[in-house]
Amino acid sequence: MTDSLPTYERRPARDRFYGWRPEIHHPEPGPGEEFPPGPRAPLAIQSLRTWAARNTYWPKMRERYGDTFTLRVAPVGRMVIVCRPEDVRTAAQGGPDVFPIGENNLLFDPLIGRGSVSALDGAPHRVERKRMAPAFHGRRISGVVSIMEQLAAEEVASWPVGSTFALVERMRRLTLKVIIRVVMGVEEPRRVADLSTALTRVLDVGTLDLLMWIWPGLTRVGPWRKVVAGMQRADDMLFEEIARSRRDPDREQRPDVLAMLLDGDPDDERVRVELLTLLLSGHETTAVGSAWMFERLLRHPKALVRVLEGLDDPDDEYRKAVVKETLRVRQFIYNFGRRLAAPVELGGYHLPAGTFVWPSIGAAHTDRGTWGEDADEFRPERWLEPDPPSRVFVPFGGGVHRCLGALFAETEMEIILRTVLRHVEVRPDRAEDETPVMRHIVQAPQRGARVRVVRRLGS
Ligand code: HEM
Repeated sequence: MTDSLPTYERRPARDRFYGWRPEIHHPEPGPGEEFPPGPRAPLAIQSLRTWAARNTYWPKMRERYGDTFTLRVAPVGRMVIVCRPEDVRTAAQGGPDVFPIGENNLLFDPLIGRGSVSALDGAPHRVERKRMAPAFHGRRISGVVSIMEQLAAEEVASWPVGSTFALVERMRRLTLKVIIRVVMGVEEPRRVADLSTALTRVLDVGTLDLLMWIWPGLTRVGPWRKVVAGMQRADDMLFEEIARSRRDPDREQRPDVLAMLLDGDPDDERVRVELLTLLLSGHETTAVGSAWMFERLLRHPKALVRVLEGLDDPDDEYRKAVVKETLRVRQFIYNFGRRLAAPVELGGYHLPAGTFVWPSIGAAHTDRGTWGEDADEFRPERWLEPDPPSRVFVPFGGGVHRCLGALFAETEMEIILRTVLRHVEVRPDRAEDETPVMRHIVQAPQRGARVRVVRRLGS
């Protein structure tokens, strides 16, 4: 089962920072090739604006330079931003021969380790993905619905009545519990608490910590040393969980993802990398997405009434439409990335091989030509009308790298929606919409989707 994938040796967390820096060579356009136009602002400004606020910066650049434009952004360098929905889709669907991930996700290597499915291409990616995919099939996900429901109900029970709070923090706590329980299969409260503390340290790696990526020597001093110690603690605990799972005689009956990842007897380091990949891909995204869902729905009373009416129907189509519409209108992952393996014509330009291409999900999902004049509006009904433009609905990217946890995430969001509304009456703290802002790589509500629980309900 583990053939055609290199084995990665088990190394201390600190060592992952040494020798990491990838050398990135940028192509020059050959005959007939050219880069799209773009701003002349210094690299530092373009980088800062892209990392801190691409959700407002890119739309401005699109207005000025057109649907496809070039930016210079550290540490990647020159990159082409693609906004036309059809081009975004082309890049998403294009296979690894032309549109591989390339170096796009290498930044996560020191955090996760080498060999993550999200950073591999070609045959190694195919093998790794095939290994992981069964754990995310519909049948497996149906098997964990009741666990998700129970964790969501426990979370809601702890919400205070009468005072306002940021939903995003509660959702973070919940989605972390879901990952620990459903992905890692840990149930015992003491271990859940320890693992939660250790993993939170990894998830909290902040902007200043990125300096370790440039100067690995920092891992031995001051606050950085603590961060690395936290990463090491998380690694050690994950190895313990992997060993415990291997020993479990009932492993085959267990519904969690880890139980299945051990099929075929892969080495421990491989499984640790997979678990951290799932944590980093699936935790913040689903938490922020769930917070947005309430931020939008609670400000649209008619939509809320329709969801409440269908609460007892396990397959209510309108509730599913609310999840989809949230994913469309608030693109919490604002773009994905590819690096061209061959020259290609995209967005009206002949681009050379080696070009970094960042297709904008944000642009594709708010394009008026595609979604109509109300593209920016939250209107779940659009998903129940004939022929919604699903082709260019790409919240999970697409092609061979399409989000492995898409069904997991949609199911979890739907369960959270139903469970919260069954247990509490909740209102936004203000009538005004919350502004979307970039928090690391996720587009989040500026005030964390603040709400107030008005009262608890009977069921
Ligand atoms: C609503 C929440 C989520 C959103 C919006 C989201 C979005 C994305 C996007 C845009 C990509 C890149 C796809 C591409 O390059 O074409 C991705 C990849 C990935 N996601 Fe998610 N994701 C979410 C939740 C999850 C969850 C819950 C998990 C797992 C528990 C997960 C696991 C992954 C993995 C493993 C990949 C890499 C797949 C590959 O490269 O083959 N994601 N996700």
